[in-house]
Amino acid sequence: METRITEIGDGLYRLSTFVPDIAPPDGFTFNQFLILGDEPLLFHAGLRLMFPSIRTAVARLIPPEKLRWIAFGHYEADECGAMNDWLAIAPQAMVAHGRTGCYVSLNDMADRSPRILEDGETIDLGKGRRVRYLDTPHIPHGWDAGVLYEEASGTLLCGDLFTQIGDRAALTDRDIVGPAIDAEDMFRFSSLNPGMGKTIRRLAELAPRSLALMHGPTFTGDGAAALHGLADDYDRRIRAAMSQ
Ligand SMILES: [Fe+2]
Ligand SMILES: [Fe+2]
Repeated sequence: METRITEIGDGLYRLSTFVPDIAPPDGFTFNQFLILGDEPLLFHAGLRLMFPSIRTAVARLIPPEKLRWIAFGHYEADECGAMNDWLAIAPQAMVAHGRTGCYVSLNDMADRSPRILEDGETIDLGKGRRVRYLDTPHIPHGWDAGVLYEEASGTLLCGDLFTQIGDRAALTDRDIVGPAIDAEDMFRFSSLNPGMGKTIRRLAELAPRSLALMHGPTFTGDGAAALHGLADDYDRRIRAAMSQ
């Protein structure tokens, strides 16, 4: 298992591990994002199984024990399976997640008390980098779901939004809505609900210049247009489900 590193923005790194056995023949990627600063933040702790490989990748960029924040989109193994492994090797590290996730899972499951992030709350990482947490309950799944926006680079860390199969280039300016529709048709991983369009269009108001996918490439370009395209597709699915 090899974790590859790509710098997708100034001080912002994508760590990507490809697993050919999931969704063959295309395979599937699991990505984490490391944001450097006085208080480095890792978005997605990764699976416990992948921890040695991801730790080795982090160590090529910073001493892993310097990690200060472990954040993720929702409570699920690929998002946070290894959070306690990170807490064990990084004495200053703290899990940071939305109120729902902390109360429902993390206050019990994290080995140290998490920091609760309110909707819209920011963490100043130093060196000009700041992340904003946004609640996206049940979107694409998980009551506790949320995303993180890195303000300096205009990068939305999308979590499972726009999930796609395959192992394409780390960076793309090509369509990411079509591959996301295909993956939704394949996996049915989203919890279709009436609030989806509104919540995803609210993310579009950030006008992100970059969309960092947990399972897929990092898209650079008109992030708002891509988010509107995804919201429109969910609206279509919900209308179709309601009319049955
Ligand atoms: Fe997920
Ligand atoms: Fe995921």
